Amino acid sequence: MTATPAIGPAWVRERVGALRATAQSHPNGIIDCNVGTPCDPVPDFVADAVARSVPLSGPYPLSVGSVEYRDAARAWIARCFGVDLARDSVAACVGTKEFVATLPHLLGLVDERFAARDTVLHPAVAYPTYAFGARYAGCRAVEVPLTAAWKLDLDAIDDRDADRARVLWINTPANPTGAVDSRAELERVVEWARTREILVVSDECYVQLVSGAATVLEAGGDGVLALHSLSKRSNFAGMRAGFYAGDRALVGALTDVRRDAGGIVPTPVQAAAVAVLRDDAHVEEQRARYERRRQVVIEACGHHGVVHDGGPMPFYLWLRATDGRDGWQLADRFARAGVLVAPGATFGAEGAGHVRLALVQPDARINEIPARLAAAEQESRS
Ligand SMILES: Cc1ncc(COP(=O)(O)O)c(C=O)c1O
Repeated sequence: MTATPAIGPAWVRERVGALRATAQSHPNGIIDCNVGTPCDPVPDFVADAVARSVPLSGPYPLSVGSVEYRDAARAWIARCFGVDLARDSVAACVGTKEFVATLPHLLGLVDERFAARDTVLHPAVAYPTYAFGARYAGCRAVEVPLTAAWKLDLDAIDDRDADRARVLWINTPANPTGAVDSRAELERVVEWARTREILVVSDECYVQLVSGAATVLEAGGDGVLALHSLSKRSNFAGMRAGFYAGDRALVGALTDVRRDAGGIVPTPVQAAAVAVLRDDAHVEEQRARYERRRQVVIEACGHHGVVHDGGPMPFYLWLRATDGRDGWQLADRFARAGVLVAPGATFGAEGAGHVRLALVQPDARINEIPARLAAAEQESRS
């Protein structure tokens, strides 16, 4: 295991910038599948919920989230996963990126047992903010190697790193690989961490895009937090709403420091979040959109020696060239077809053979990909 290098070093930004320029020069324009920003609309009823909340939006909202917000989150967890949570086991966050980035630092403030440990364990191929959050807290970010199925290989964690670990991040369903942990796999991770007194935080922002996916909360709340975002589920990236839930004492302690630090979801956003959390029909529609796009692109890739060998979560494809080209070369091939993807190395060295394609362009644009790949291949041969 190695310490994670700085995220987004200048050479990576430059190289991705060059790919973007190539994709932009395509005669029909760029199809930008690089970043996981949803492109589809929020449900119509959101506007009403926001409008109704405006007369209430004068006073400072509660940092922990309104009673309605926390109850809507609890009801959603009970409905989807059959887990009942007390109201004080759930608290709001302003989207989840800020929570991921600040958690290791805040843990050091709330409990001296955490302060005595200086290591953040995270999947070796992962959302880069886990490593950033470690550095933000002055901690070591240590990669946990993944198995061939892109799951955490707990046996590969060095005991010395485990002894120093403040937190272990899981991400299921996973960005960028789409891998989904089963309930039994989550229970195993939790058991491993509990015996070593390491906090497990499971980032589950894509969970409702896979039918039947499990939450870490099914393993009980002790020493465990689950982190949920509305950004992907309800196309709420611009609204900034999420919540964390689990270990009651820790949720209480984090709520206190987060209030002092000013982490507050605005009242209209809380009202909108309550409305979308009470509805699953729009999520089903969204999931079906991603599934359709996924089929179009996987099939097209299959004609050009490119396979998806990640998991079933349909927001991202995790693609590999069967001819042995690495992720940068494959990204270049996509860019020549006007499609911008994220080279896998930007998520960790173990991802170097892959690219991540986010299915976040409207159907009409995604439907152009097969013909574009075919034309780019033709051109490269001529
Ligand atoms: C794994 C993961 N966690 C957290 C986030 C942050 O989402 P948000 O801040 O919109 O809730 C993202 C966004 O792409 C993500 O992929």
